[in-house]
Formats: sequence, C-alpha cells, structure tokens
Amino acid sequence: MLFTPINIGGMNIPNRFVRSATHEWMAKSDGTPTSRIGDLYEKLAINEVGLIITGYAYVNPKGKSDLFQQGIYEDKFINPYREIVSRVHKYDSKIVLQISHGGRQTMITTDNPYVLAPSSVIETTKGITPEEMTENEVLDTIEDFAQAVRRAKEAGFDGVQLHCAHGFLLSNFISPYTNRRKDRWGGSTEKRTQIILDIMVRIRELVGEKYPILVKLNVTDGFKPGSRRHALDAPESIEIAKILAKNGVSAIEVSGGIAEAGDELFRKCIDSPEKEAYYKDYAKMIKKQINVPVILVGGIRSKKIMEMLLMEDYADMISLCRPLIAEPDLVIKLKKGETDISKCVSCNLCSDENGIKCNYNFNK
Ligand SMILES: Cc1cc2nc3c(=O)[nH]c(=O)nc-3n(C[C@H](O)[C@H](O)[C@H](O)COP(=O)(O)O)c2cc1C
Repeated sequence: MLFTPINIGGMNIPNRFVRSATHEWMAKSDGTPTSRIGDLYEKLAINEVGLIITGYAYVNPKGKSDLFQQGIYEDKFINPYREIVSRVHKYDSKIVLQISHGGRQTMITTDNPYVLAPSSVIETTKGITPEEMTENEVLDTIEDFAQAVRRAKEAGFDGVQLHCAHGFLLSNFISPYTNRRKDRWGGSTEKRTQIILDIMVRIRELVGEKYPILVKLNVTDGFKPGSRRHALDAPESIEIAKILAKNGVSAIEVSGGIAEAGDELFRKCIDSPEKEAYYKDYAKMIKKQINVPVILVGGIRSKKIMEMLLMEDYADMISLCRPLIAEPDLVIKLKKGETDISKCVSCNLCSDENGIKCNYNFNK
C-alpha cells in the first residue's frame, strides 16, 4: 500500500510518503527562498517522496518565527518559488507550500518588537506576553493568508498547507488555552475554528474551489493530563477536524504539541515500535469521522509500522520529517528493500541554523 497512488483534492500523488514541513534555515534574510532550498527539494523528488511540503513560509513579516525562514508575503517571491517548483516537477512528486504566521511564537526583532496573538496569554518558555489582536489585525491576517495562497498558486505549487499546529498563530486560535477572545473568533469550538473558515472563504474567492488546501492540525497542545485546565485535546480537536473537512479542506495532517508542553512536538529517542507514530490514536479517531485523507506525522520510523498505519486505517499517508533529513533517499531504499527502518535516532541535532542536516555521528 505504501507505494500506491492517492488523490488529494484533485492532486495525484504517486505514493503514500509525505515530507512533513521542515524549516530549513536556508532562505535569505528577507525570506526569499534560495537555490539551496531548491537543491534539497529536488533531491527529495529524485528520491520519490510523493508529496513534499516546504518549510513554513510566513505570510506577513509581523509573523516571522525564525532566522532564515522563507516568506510568501509579497509578489516578489513568486518567481524564485516558480524556479524551485519547476525543479520538483521534473519528477513525479507534488509540492505544497506550508504557510504560517508565528502568533505567540513570533521572533522579536528591532523591526518587529510586538508579538501578536488571539489573546494576551504569557508564553512561559520565553516569558513574553503577546498583544491581543484587534479585529482589524485579524481581518488583515485572514487576507495575508489568502494572498499567500494566490501567490503559491501563481508560482505553480500543487497546493498549500495552512499551519494550524505547534503553537503558531492558527494553532493559538483553536486552543482554549491561548484563545480567550469573546468576539466572533473566540469562545466555543466553532468560534475558535472560525478564523480558519474565514481564510478558506477568502482563499476560494481568490483561487477557486479546485485548488488543494491542506491543514496541519494540532490535535493536542500536549500538556500532561490535568496540568492545564483549558488546553486543546481530543475530543475537541476531533470536532475541529470535522468542521475543517466539511468546509473544503482537502486533507488533514495530524500533529500536536506546543513549546510550553516540552518535548511533545518532536519527541526524542524513538527507539522502539511502541514509541513510533505517537499521535496515531488521534489520527484513527479523525479518520473514522471525516471523508478527506488523513496524513500522520510524528515518530514514524519503520516500514512495519508504516504498513500497519495504512492497513489498520490509522492514516492514508505517512509523513516524515527527521528521517528524511538523515536519509533523503529513505523512500527509495524502503521501496527497493534495502532497509526497513530509518537511521534517525530522533536526537533533534538536525535543527541547525546553518541549514538543516543530520548532525548525529553516523553522518559525520
Ligand atoms: C528541524 C525541524 C524543522 C521543522 N520545521 C517545521 C515546519 O516548518 N513546519 C511544521 O509544521 N513542522 C515543522 N517541524 C515538525 C515536523 O514537521 C514534524 O511534525 C516533527 O518533526 C515530527 O515528525 P518526525 O518524527 O518525522 O520528525 C520541524 C521539525 C524539525 C526537526
């Protein structure tokens, strides 16, 4: 099953492998993507990764989260992205741009001294209390996301993914821990999801009904049970997935964790099958309730578990981040039977400001 095709919102993908969005630290300081990023994606395409999701691209400089992050906030980005996309399209792979606003995890700089979020809830890892967004700031951000999608389509991307996970702005909106608003974008589950629906409406006005829009969704903020009274978790996140699927989202990638919850987001030391696919039970619950493909990410390492996830209806696609940093040719190796498990030891040393790479001994 791993090597059978699948269709997402009209996009034909040759196999079930996804390169999960991975910030590369390879863009210019204004966010312009470089040929280094193109080299990386082309390598993944040569090595038969069915769907490549880019690193997160910021839709407005006020929502930039990290150094050397790629941007998509002006039309000047269309041409450089077009070049990158055309390199991937020489092969069978599809490529989707992940778009994001940093929200509580925006990087503070002299040019951008304020962090914007749905509500002024202190981010305890950095000790920063964000400004609550005004109604106009929310409306402008909806437009920023939609314009980013228009640019992505003009650049030739096969679709986009809205980053609604990991404690960035849209993940802040869906979580009751970080969204305490009392207006149209806060309160009930539906109201906390409303900003994503507003973005979807505007996207459809700009690019039509047929363009694939994926969502990477936090299914849990990741706090230990009982440690926060109001945080996002199932069953509420399952309801959110249902709302999104009913409102034109083409696929949902199941993920979880925010920085304040500790190591949840990229769990370390995945060294046994029991530790693999740590959000699989959420994915199964979601897959039962929605009729668009479910993509699962997080600690998937062995072919045995990948096959089990597809066969036993946990997910439709297998998404990998750190394993493809360690071995960009992992998919081909699995296909040829040259290996049945990733070499990745989940040490997280691949987060490298000089550009992602596996910094564990075996690659030195
Ligand atoms: C270096 C690095 C950069 C990442 N950048 C992003 C990103 O830009 N967008 C995103 O949604 N997730 C990002 N993630 C999270 C991964 O996509 C993935 O959800 C997480 O690493 C778990 O999957 P894995 O066990 O296959 O690595 C990043 C992870 C790492 C290690």
